[in-house]
Amino acid sequence: MNTLSKLAKKTIELADETATVAFGQALSALIKNPMVITLQGQLGAGKTTLSRGILQGLGHCGSVKSPTYTIVEPYRLPAGQVFHFDLYRIADAEELEYMGFGEYLAEAQLCLIEWPERGQGFLPQADIAIEISQSGDGRCVTLAAYSEVGEQLIGQLDLDKG
Ligand SMILES: Nc1ncnc2c1ncn2[C@@H]1O[C@H](COP(=O)(O)OP(=O)(O)O)[C@@H](O)[C@H]1O
Ligand SMILES: [Mg+2]
Repeated sequence: MNTLSKLAKKTIELADETATVAFGQALSALIKNPMVITLQGQLGAGKTTLSRGILQGLGHCGSVKSPTYTIVEPYRLPAGQVFHFDLYRIADAEELEYMGFGEYLAEAQLCLIEWPERGQGFLPQADIAIEISQSGDGRCVTLAAYSEVGEQLIGQLDLDKG
């Protein structure tokens, strides 16, 4: 299987922050472990907001800290070990090797990775790549699958429930 070709793609419009969190929660219900989900988009696009919806949907109670400064925030959830990464401050993708990125991956049931472009060459192929962009006052979110589990997830996504 050529994992580099997009297997499925869907787009959804999200009117406000509440819709983004709700969409993350809907996504979380479809996640099969282990999975890698990348989130791309400018600063303030909503990557952390969507991650919060996913984490809360997986049973995390309380706030979700942006990993901008810590690079990674771990969550031990009923579904297993989840790592939420923000690679914005990674200057050189090789830094991922020094921080033991491979060990995180090996342990993770789910990796959420903001700014994956900063880790190019050191990241695994994502199951799902999410791109968020400004759309009027809201956001446009595109999901692309790069694996069979990712394809299944996108196939099951009922976008009317957004
Ligand atoms: N669908 C949406 N429409 C409008 N604003 C949104 C939407 N989703 C999130 N936001 C807002 O956009 C900002 C996103 O911040 P954040 O999630 O930290 O972005 P990022 O992690 O991409 O830098 C927050 O202020 C949030 O309230
Ligand atoms: Mg963020």
